[in-house]
Amino acid sequence: MLKPLVKKFAIWATIITIITNIYIFTYPSIHPTQCSWKCYDKTNESSEPDISSLSSLGKYTYYTKRYLNDIKNQYLTKTEQENTNDIHLLAFGDPQIKGIWHNTPYITRLDTFGNDYYLGHIYSMMQKRLSPTHVAIMGDLFSSQWIGDSEFFNRTKRYMNRIFKRNADDTWLYDLKKNNHDEMGLYKVNWTKYANEFKLNPNNSFAGYKDVYSWDPENENYLFINITGNHDVGYSGDATYQHMSRYHEIFGKDNFFIEYDVETDHPWRIVVLNTLTLEGPALQPEFVDNTWEFLYQVFERRFNGSTILLTHVPFYKEEGLCVDGPEFRYYPEVYEKEPYKANLLRSQNHMSEEATNKVFNLIFDNKKPGIVLNGHDHEGCETIYNKKGASWIATKDIDPSADYYLQEITVRAMMGEFNGNTGLVTGHFNELTKLWDFNFTLCPFNIQHFWWAAKASAIITGFIWSFYVLL
Ligand SMILES: *[C@@H]1O[C@H](CO)[C@@H](O)[C@H](O)[C@H]1NC(C)=O
Ligand SMILES: *[C@@H]1O[C@H](CO)[C@@H](O)[C@H](O)[C@H]1NC(C)=O
Ligand SMILES: *[C@@H]1O[C@H](CO)[C@@H](O)[C@H](O)[C@H]1NC(C)=O
Repeated sequence: MLKPLVKKFAIWATIITIITNIYIFTYPSIHPTQCSWKCYDKTNESSEPDISSLSSLGKYTYYTKRYLNDIKNQYLTKTEQENTNDIHLLAFGDPQIKGIWHNTPYITRLDTFGNDYYLGHIYSMMQKRLSPTHVAIMGDLFSSQWIGDSEFFNRTKRYMNRIFKRNADDTWLYDLKKNNHDEMGLYKVNWTKYANEFKLNPNNSFAGYKDVYSWDPENENYLFINITGNHDVGYSGDATYQHMSRYHEIFGKDNFFIEYDVETDHPWRIVVLNTLTLEGPALQPEFVDNTWEFLYQVFERRFNGSTILLTHVPFYKEEGLCVDGPEFRYYPEVYEKEPYKANLLRSQNHMSEEATNKVFNLIFDNKKPGIVLNGHDHEGCETIYNKKGASWIATKDIDPSADYYLQEITVRAMMGEFNGNTGLVTGHFNELTKLWDFNFTLCPFNIQHFWWAAKASAIITGFIWSFYVLL
């Protein structure tokens, strides 16, 4: 009696497992154009045919064919990527991984654990599919600036191993802990040492590089870029030497640039800018001075190519262009919890109008095509900045009367609630115009429940079949 019923059940569970797993392992093929680099070689472009006139059956057939074709291209006929000069950058917005505390309920712990692997799944799918030249995490790597050093360390391990699958050999992290720990042996940053060095030589906190394609060429054939978010170092009213020193120790410089192909006809560069320490009133105003000094030095290089600017906080725009409007919050005049923070900058949705104009005038002064990527608002947004004199005015569309324009992409978050997105930036040097073209697309996955369903059904199926065998 029971046995045939269990068998029936097991077969159904197997079917569900197969379908959900095929789905999570082929999801980019459902949106093949959005989930591929822009291809400049094909003459028929990647433009989609107009299917609005088709019947629903016709549409269904079209989407199925497109999906199957993409799978075929990925797994069967995958041709070696042509060796072009194209820039292929993957941008991940706001992973914001949460922590586990001793009073965290088990269900939340499981959720946080699964979330790491959900994010990791997105990353490895996209990395394998697209072989990027650059991978940028747009800030808010973690979910809180109020965590201690040991928790910062522990989350770094998850960030590295579970999500971004790098440095399987994380001895450097353990060596770091060996040399910097408290009496319990837990990681503790030596921020006084950092503070002394910073005060002596503030300009050592930023850097400029040339033609770096990987920080670790033996193990990685792409460049991995960490960017500061307000949850990693705090807004300028919060950012302490402790925040800055552990970020520098574990994630590298908060401000830097890399120039590429300078001696050629197609120079370009990446500028990584810590937008958290650009405005105040700041707790440590020297951080703000230092970030401006970095920008002045970038300007002084009189660079003659295109720029990809990577930041966390979006630039100034009027209410209504994106989900977040302009907002600045300050600590109150009388703040009993932390009196030393009275009146300091507590949070900001955008850079101020003044800072925006200044930054763009310093970085995009040569009028070569450029693109700005950031995160912070989670919802994502695309804006155009039209340059008029020394002001940059944000709009949805290009203003034909502007001297020059710039595109800003606020990358929609990687978090499950926002469908696990990946941003794709393709940079291509156009031999006819002798200018770089930049194109952006957003590749969505799905809310985390689909990933969970695939994993849970696999486990349940295993149990049911074992039960069946034992009956
Ligand atoms: C970090 O991980 C270590 C080892 O698993 C653990 O002993 C420590 O308590 C963790 N730190 C925090 C703040 O939970
Ligand atoms: C970015 O962070 C990861 C993880 O801590 C680290 O391995 C990598 O070296 C960092 N990048 C730089 C340039 O320091
Ligand atoms: C790609 O970028 C070029 C140059 O900026 C632009 O003309 C073109 O419309 C873009 N294509 C798409 C699909 O966005």
